[in-house]
Amino acid sequence: MKIQVITLFPEMFTGVWGASMLWKAQDRGIVQYSTIDLRTFGLGSRRTVDDTPYGGGDGMLLKPEPVVAAIEAAKKNDPDALVLLPTPRGKLYKQSDAKRLAAGGKGLIIVCPRYEGYDERITAWVDEQVCIGNYVLTGGELPAMTIIDSVVRLLPGVLGGEHSAEIESFQDDDETVEYPQYTRPVEFRGMKVPEVLQNGHHGEIAKWRKDQ
Ligand code: ADE
Repeated sequence: MKIQVITLFPEMFTGVWGASMLWKAQDRGIVQYSTIDLRTFGLGSRRTVDDTPYGGGDGMLLKPEPVVAAIEAAKKNDPDALVLLPTPRGKLYKQSDAKRLAAGGKGLIIVCPRYEGYDERITAWVDEQVCIGNYVLTGGELPAMTIIDSVVRLLPGVLGGEHSAEIESFQDDDETVEYPQYTRPVEFRGMKVPEVLQNGHHGEIAKWRKDQ
Protein backbone atom coordinates (compact mmCIF):
# COMPACT_ATOMS: atom_id res chain seq x y z
CA MET A 1 0.00 0.00 0.00
CA LYS A 2 1.37 3.41 -0.98
CA ILE A 3 0.79 6.16 1.58
CA GLN A 4 1.54 9.68 0.38
CA VAL A 5 1.19 12.71 2.62
CA ILE A 6 0.95 16.25 1.27
CA THR A 7 2.27 18.60 3.94
CA LEU A 8 4.21 21.79 4.61
CA PHE A 9 6.07 19.93 7.38
CA PRO A 10 7.46 16.69 5.96
CA GLU A 11 9.99 16.46 8.79
CA MET A 12 7.17 15.77 11.26
CA PHE A 13 6.71 12.33 9.71
CA THR A 14 10.26 10.98 9.82
CA GLY A 15 10.07 9.97 13.48
CA VAL A 16 6.68 8.33 13.09
CA TRP A 17 7.71 6.28 10.05
CA GLY A 18 11.14 5.50 11.40
CA ALA A 19 10.08 3.62 14.53
CA SER A 20 8.26 0.57 15.78
CA MET A 21 5.49 -1.14 13.80
CA LEU A 22 5.17 1.55 11.14
CA TRP A 23 8.85 1.19 10.36
CA LYS A 24 8.57 -2.62 10.33
CA ALA A 25 5.64 -2.46 7.92
CA GLN A 26 7.78 -0.52 5.46
CA ASP A 27 10.82 -2.74 6.07
CA ARG A 28 8.68 -5.79 5.23
CA GLY A 29 7.51 -4.18 1.99
CA ILE A 30 3.88 -3.96 3.14
CA VAL A 31 3.70 -0.15 2.85
CA GLN A 32 5.68 2.58 1.14
CA TYR A 33 5.48 5.99 2.79
CA SER A 34 6.34 9.27 1.15
CA THR A 35 5.78 12.95 1.77
CA ILE A 36 5.10 15.58 -0.84
CA ASP A 37 6.24 19.03 0.27
CA LEU A 38 3.37 21.37 -0.51
CA ARG A 39 5.82 24.28 -0.65
CA THR A 40 7.33 22.92 -3.87
CA PHE A 41 3.96 23.57 -5.55
CA GLY A 42 3.77 27.12 -4.17
CA LEU A 43 3.21 30.01 -6.55
CA GLY A 44 5.86 32.45 -7.74
CA SER A 45 9.42 32.94 -6.56
CA ARG A 46 8.22 32.98 -2.94
CA ARG A 47 6.41 29.67 -3.36
CA THR A 48 3.24 31.13 -1.87
CA VAL A 49 0.72 28.56 -0.64
CA ASP A 50 -1.74 30.73 1.31
CA ASP A 51 -3.82 33.87 1.00
CA THR A 52 -6.41 35.91 2.89
CA PRO A 53 -10.08 34.77 2.93
CA TYR A 54 -12.72 36.39 0.73
CA GLY A 55 -15.26 38.11 2.93
CA GLY A 56 -12.68 38.89 5.60
CA GLY A 57 -11.77 37.05 8.76
CA ASP A 58 -8.70 36.02 10.69
CA GLY A 59 -5.82 34.03 9.32
CA MET A 60 -4.77 32.67 5.99
CA LEU A 61 -6.19 29.90 3.83
CA LEU A 62 -4.37 27.37 1.69
CA LYS A 63 -4.76 28.34 -1.94
CA PRO A 64 -6.35 25.80 -4.27
CA GLU A 65 -3.69 25.79 -7.02
CA PRO A 66 -0.76 24.35 -5.00
CA VAL A 67 -2.94 21.82 -3.15
CA VAL A 68 -4.60 20.50 -6.31
CA ALA A 69 -1.25 20.38 -8.17
CA ALA A 70 0.18 18.33 -5.28
CA ILE A 71 -2.82 15.95 -5.31
CA GLU A 72 -2.44 15.51 -9.06
CA ALA A 73 1.27 14.73 -8.65
CA ALA A 74 0.43 12.13 -5.98
CA LYS A 75 -2.26 10.61 -8.22
CA LYS A 76 0.32 10.15 -10.97
CA ASN A 77 2.23 7.87 -8.57
CA ASP A 78 -0.91 5.99 -7.57
CA PRO A 79 -3.96 6.67 -9.77
CA ASP A 80 -6.43 4.59 -7.68
CA ALA A 81 -5.45 6.06 -4.32
CA LEU A 82 -8.10 7.51 -2.02
CA VAL A 83 -7.64 11.18 -1.17
CA LEU A 84 -8.32 12.00 2.49
CA LEU A 85 -8.57 15.45 4.02
CA PRO A 86 -8.32 15.73 7.82
CA THR A 87 -10.60 18.53 8.99
CA PRO A 88 -12.73 19.20 12.07
CA ARG A 89 -15.63 19.49 9.61
CA GLY A 90 -15.20 15.90 8.46
CA LYS A 91 -16.99 12.71 9.46
CA LEU A 92 -15.82 11.27 12.78
CA TYR A 93 -13.12 8.67 12.08
CA LYS A 94 -13.73 5.31 13.74
CA GLN A 95 -12.17 1.85 13.96
CA SER A 96 -14.56 0.68 11.23
CA ASP A 97 -13.00 3.28 8.90
CA ALA A 98 -9.51 2.01 9.70
CA LYS A 99 -10.69 -1.54 8.90
CA ARG A 100 -12.36 -0.43 5.69
CA LEU A 101 -9.28 1.45 4.48
CA ALA A 102 -6.95 -1.43 5.40
CA ALA A 103 -9.18 -4.04 3.75
CA GLY A 104 -9.80 -1.89 0.67
CA GLY A 105 -6.10 -2.15 -0.14
CA LYS A 106 -6.07 1.15 -2.03
CA GLY A 107 -3.23 3.60 -1.51
CA LEU A 108 -3.86 6.74 0.51
CA ILE A 109 -3.10 10.36 -0.28
CA ILE A 110 -3.57 12.49 2.82
CA VAL A 111 -3.68 16.26 2.43
CA CYS A 112 -2.68 18.15 5.59
CA PRO A 113 -4.20 21.62 5.90
CA ARG A 114 -2.44 24.33 7.95
CA TYR A 115 -3.15 27.93 8.82
CA GLU A 116 -6.82 28.73 9.42
CA GLY A 117 -8.02 26.36 6.75
CA TYR A 118 -8.20 25.84 3.01
CA ASP A 119 -10.10 27.07 0.00
CA GLU A 120 -13.26 24.95 -0.10
CA ARG A 121 -12.81 24.21 -3.82
CA ILE A 122 -10.03 21.69 -3.04
CA THR A 123 -12.71 19.33 -1.67
CA ALA A 124 -13.69 18.55 -5.27
CA TRP A 125 -10.41 16.53 -5.41
CA VAL A 126 -11.00 14.81 -2.07
CA ASP A 127 -12.78 11.46 -1.52
CA GLU A 128 -13.28 11.69 2.25
CA GLN A 129 -13.10 14.47 4.83
CA VAL A 130 -12.28 13.01 8.24
CA CYS A 131 -12.31 14.37 11.78
CA ILE A 132 -10.34 12.39 14.37
CA GLY A 133 -12.12 13.79 17.43
CA ASN A 134 -14.06 16.74 18.75
CA TYR A 135 -11.12 19.05 19.37
CA VAL A 136 -9.14 21.39 17.12
CA LEU A 137 -5.50 20.81 16.22
CA THR A 138 -3.09 23.20 14.51
CA GLY A 139 -3.00 21.19 11.29
CA GLY A 140 -3.71 17.92 9.56
CA GLU A 141 -0.37 16.26 10.31
CA LEU A 142 -1.30 14.64 13.64
CA PRO A 143 -4.64 13.42 12.27
CA ALA A 144 -2.78 12.02 9.23
CA MET A 145 -0.40 10.14 11.54
CA THR A 146 -3.34 8.81 13.53
CA ILE A 147 -5.09 7.56 10.42
CA ILE A 148 -1.89 5.99 9.05
CA ASP A 149 -1.11 4.23 12.34
CA SER A 150 -4.65 2.86 12.69
CA VAL A 151 -4.68 1.52 9.11
CA VAL A 152 -1.14 0.14 8.85
CA ARG A 153 -1.39 -1.95 12.04
CA LEU A 154 -4.36 -3.78 10.47
CA LEU A 155 -2.54 -4.72 7.25
CA PRO A 156 -1.73 -8.44 7.05
CA GLY A 157 1.79 -9.18 8.30
CA VAL A 158 2.26 -6.01 10.37
CA LEU A 159 1.31 -7.16 13.88
CA GLY A 160 3.11 -10.16 15.35
CA GLY A 161 0.29 -12.18 16.91
CA GLU A 162 -2.37 -13.53 14.56
CA HIS A 163 -5.13 -12.26 16.81
CA SER A 164 -3.49 -9.08 18.10
CA ALA A 165 -5.76 -6.89 16.01
CA GLU A 166 -8.84 -9.04 16.53
CA ILE A 167 -9.41 -8.99 20.27
CA GLU A 168 -9.15 -5.37 21.14
CA SER A 169 -10.98 -2.16 21.84
CA PHE A 170 -13.46 -0.61 19.39
CA GLN A 171 -13.89 -3.77 17.31
CA ASP A 172 -17.46 -2.64 16.79
CA ASP A 173 -16.65 1.06 17.04
CA ASP A 174 -18.25 2.18 20.31
CA GLU A 175 -19.43 -1.24 21.49
CA THR A 176 -16.29 -2.98 22.70
CA VAL A 177 -13.50 -1.98 25.03
CA GLU A 178 -10.61 -4.33 25.69
CA TYR A 179 -10.33 -6.10 29.07
CA PRO A 180 -7.63 -5.03 31.56
CA GLN A 181 -4.32 -6.90 31.39
CA TYR A 182 -1.50 -7.56 33.86
CA THR A 183 2.08 -8.80 33.79
CA ARG A 184 4.66 -9.57 36.51
CA PRO A 185 5.07 -8.81 39.37
CA VAL A 186 1.99 -10.44 40.88
CA GLU A 187 1.86 -7.68 43.49
CA PHE A 188 2.87 -4.07 42.88
CA ARG A 189 2.62 -1.45 45.64
CA GLY A 190 -0.16 -3.39 47.31
CA MET A 191 -2.13 -4.01 44.13
CA LYS A 192 -2.55 -7.67 43.14
CA VAL A 193 -3.17 -9.36 39.81
CA PRO A 194 -6.74 -10.78 39.96
CA GLU A 195 -6.75 -14.41 41.25
CA VAL A 196 -8.63 -15.70 38.24
CA LEU A 197 -5.80 -14.70 35.90
CA GLN A 198 -3.25 -16.56 38.02
CA ASN A 199 -5.00 -19.93 38.25
CA GLY A 200 -4.80 -20.77 34.56
CA HIS A 201 -8.36 -22.05 33.93
CA HIS A 202 -8.98 -20.95 30.37
CA GLY A 203 -12.76 -21.01 30.67
CA GLU A 204 -12.82 -18.85 33.80
CA ILE A 205 -10.27 -16.46 32.36
CA ALA A 206 -12.29 -16.09 29.18
CA LYS A 207 -15.46 -15.44 31.22
CA TRP A 208 -13.69 -12.85 33.42
CA ARG A 209 -12.34 -11.05 30.35
CA LYS A 210 -15.75 -11.03 28.70
CA ASP A 211 -17.36 -9.66 31.88
CA GLN A 212 -14.78 -6.90 32.06
N1 ADE B 1 -7.56 19.49 11.94
C1 ADE B 1 -7.62 20.19 13.08
N2 ADE B 1 -8.30 19.51 14.02
C2 ADE B 1 -8.68 18.33 13.45
C3 ADE B 1 -9.41 17.21 13.90
N3 ADE B 1 -9.90 17.13 15.14
N4 ADE B 1 -9.60 16.19 13.05
C4 ADE B 1 -9.12 16.25 11.80
N5 ADE B 1 -8.45 17.30 11.33
C5 ADE B 1 -8.22 18.32 12.13
